[in-house]
Amino acid sequence: MILVTGVSGALGGLVLAGLRARPDLEVVAGTSSGDGRAAQHTGNTARHIDFDDPASLTAGFDGVDTLVFISAGFAEDDVVTARHGAVVAAATAAGVRHVIYTSLSASAGHTTIAVPHLWTEKQLAAAPFEVTVLRNGFYSEVPVGLAAGAAESAAATGVFAAPFGTGRISGVAREDLAEVAVRVAAEVERDLRAGTSTAHAGRTYELEGVTSVSGAEIAGLLSESLGRPVEYRDVPLTELRDSLLGGGLEPYRIGHTVSLFSNLKAGFLHATHSDLPALLSGVPRPIHAEIADAVSGPGAAG
Ligand SMILES: NC(=O)c1ccc[n+]([C@@H]2O[C@H](COP(=O)([O-])OP(=O)(O)OC[C@H]3O[C@@H](n4cnc5c(N)ncnc54)[C@H](OP(=O)(O)O)[C@@H]3O)[C@@H](O)[C@H]2O)c1
Repeated sequence: MILVTGVSGALGGLVLAGLRARPDLEVVAGTSSGDGRAAQHTGNTARHIDFDDPASLTAGFDGVDTLVFISAGFAEDDVVTARHGAVVAAATAAGVRHVIYTSLSASAGHTTIAVPHLWTEKQLAAAPFEVTVLRNGFYSEVPVGLAAGAAESAAATGVFAAPFGTGRISGVAREDLAEVAVRVAAEVERDLRAGTSTAHAGRTYELEGVTSVSGAEIAGLLSESLGRPVEYRDVPLTELRDSLLGGGLEPYRIGHTVSLFSNLKAGFLHATHSDLPALLSGVPRPIHAEIADAVSGPGAAG
């Protein structure tokens, strides 16, 4: 039996739907949401899986062979590591045979966001079950959202201002990441049933986006969409931090956001190697087309 955690989330929902589309598999949904948000994905058959509630994990992992462990990363690092540590302990106690964990890709390895992921990978490596790490690249929604959010001011000022420096950010579609997770989970489960060792055991896949974008290129896409010249202006990190401090963001997110853009400016978020093409059935979705769609969509320019 496969269990997917976090199914009311965007990635967990896609993974669950992809696995449920395979009639040969027994798939169970796990969710921490008690408010029915997950019902659209699960038809109310979900198990209660809340990483903050270890008792729910002990009961929830019963009978699970393959666990698709979707990280629950929106919190302070010590909250995330406590959550993830509870998952590793409960999976061990329940006799889960293989854990597939959604981590963060190598290009993001210098960001503060990577810390709880690397900690979790270490705990998983020391656990008694087999492990596959899916190191997901940054979702393309990071630059897509920035571009779409800037369309209105670019239309008014002719400037796209963002803290990219001369760096590039690689982006990957969640749909592509979900397809890989589905493939790996289905193959692991098939191999467990057949009693054969799986080629995915002990593997860490770097699922980086294979296309990247710069600030100047986003300005170019905005210019095409708006039909007027748009120049790119780099935003200093001090200016970014000041704007975030006044923006009502949770404090831990300010640190993570500044770290992300610091890495972008330093050129680290431009990935140079990805296992994604080898694991997908088709070609990875390109980031530029997503940005062009977002900035030309209804209301994008206000
Ligand atoms: N690579 C990237 O660019 C990137 C960007 C953002 C986030 N991430 C990471 O990738 C994960 C999945 O991304 P996503 O797009 O699906 O995020 P999402 O749509 O925000 O979904 C995250 C899900 O995590 C689950 N969750 C939250 N607290 C939990 C808890 N205490 N115990 C168990 N599950 C909990 C929730 O699902 P239920 O309510 O169903 O439990 C939530 O909907 C995120 O959680 C984050 O760790 C990666």
